[in-house]
Amino acid sequence: MNSKQIAGEKACEYIQDGMVVGLGTGSTAYYMIQKLGDRVAEGLNVTGVVTSKATEKLALERNIPLMDLNDVTEIDLTIDGADEVDAAFRGVKGGGGALLFEKLVAHASKKSIWVVGEDKVVETLGAFPLPVEVVPFGYKQVERQLEEKGYNPILRHHEDGSIYLTDSQNYILDLQMKAITNPEALNDWLNNLPGVVENGLFLNYASSIVIGFSDGSVEVRDK
Ligand code: A5P
Repeated sequence: MNSKQIAGEKACEYIQDGMVVGLGTGSTAYYMIQKLGDRVAEGLNVTGVVTSKATEKLALERNIPLMDLNDVTEIDLTIDGADEVDAAFRGVKGGGGALLFEKLVAHASKKSIWVVGEDKVVETLGAFPLPVEVVPFGYKQVERQLEEKGYNPILRHHEDGSIYLTDSQNYILDLQMKAITNPEALNDWLNNLPGVVENGLFLNYASSIVIGFSDGSVEVRDK
């Protein structure tokens, strides 16, 4: 078992009968969803709320009942991956491009558990490129302002050279910042820029972090 599988499967244990569960996106959340599919097949009664089209496809394949975010008043628990996590339970998300839906689902959740491999735990956020979702119209204006700040934005592309589009048909500018010294100030500044839809800083969402280790062990940190 790799560290992602260990973390994903461990976090699935926190899902209880009758819960409305936010289903995260990415290769670690994948293992949680697989395990949840097994538990649903055994009779567990849950309703999932997805954070991406990819997760919707996976959940439907595993026969997990789903509801639209519009149709739930509150989500009991969301389990999602992260690209970086610091000691203050702040994180960078959106490496898989699902940051907007992930933040909407996290915001509607009573609790959020992040599932990560040990390599995602960092002292300072920012070595992983910070995704900023922008509307395509006039996005170069946003890019210019990010360049002026020295944030080195790179427009995300697919391997075939086409521009990457999010599930909401927006672009992503990945900021190469190396270190984010004041995540709260950066988050406010980014979200005040016209054209920015959302950014990948998740500062006050994770209530617990489940860390998988390559030696097969797992650690749960509660805020
Ligand atoms: C999706 O956009 C992301 O926020 C993922 O949750 C994050 O990138 C973690 O992905 P992995 O579990 O695949 O590393």
